[in-house]
Amino acid sequence: MTNVSGKPQSILVVHGPNLNLLGTREPGVYGTQTLDDHIATVTKEAQVHGATVKAMQSNAEHEIVEAVQNASGKFDAIIINPGALTHYSWALHDALRSFAGPIVEVHLSNPSAREEFRHTSVVSPVAKGTISGFGGLGYALAVHALFA
Ligand code: DQA
Repeated sequence: MTNVSGKPQSILVVHGPNLNLLGTREPGVYGTQTLDDHIATVTKEAQVHGATVKAMQSNAEHEIVEAVQNASGKFDAIIINPGALTHYSWALHDALRSFAGPIVEVHLSNPSAREEFRHTSVVSPVAKGTISGFGGLGYALAVHALFA
């Protein structure tokens, strides 16, 4: 639960479909860092603020929805890179809507500068903010945003 200053003490980091392939998946778009590298970044940054991190990734929409549902009461904040679910998963949108704490949406690439179908995010309306286009740095920025 949040501490006396209202800062998150526990953060759930959620990754959607195909992000298990980071490191080898389209490195020209997503970089060469692996998912574990990004989780390590979040964990290191969170530790500076005394917060703990739990990370999950799934290629299955229902597992992501269930992880978000189960986060209520257990985690103070969510950092999420939903992968392609960003662009169409109203089920994820609804699950995130019912989470009371801050949600930071992260994308390695800048979806707005890519194909048309990536220009819509159904996650952004329920996020506190979105960080896109800065590669792995986006994860450090997401933690900074939670403690700003
Ligand atoms: C992504 C962008 C999405 O459009 C894409 O489907 C991904 C990764 C990103 O991190 O840039 O899987 O979320």
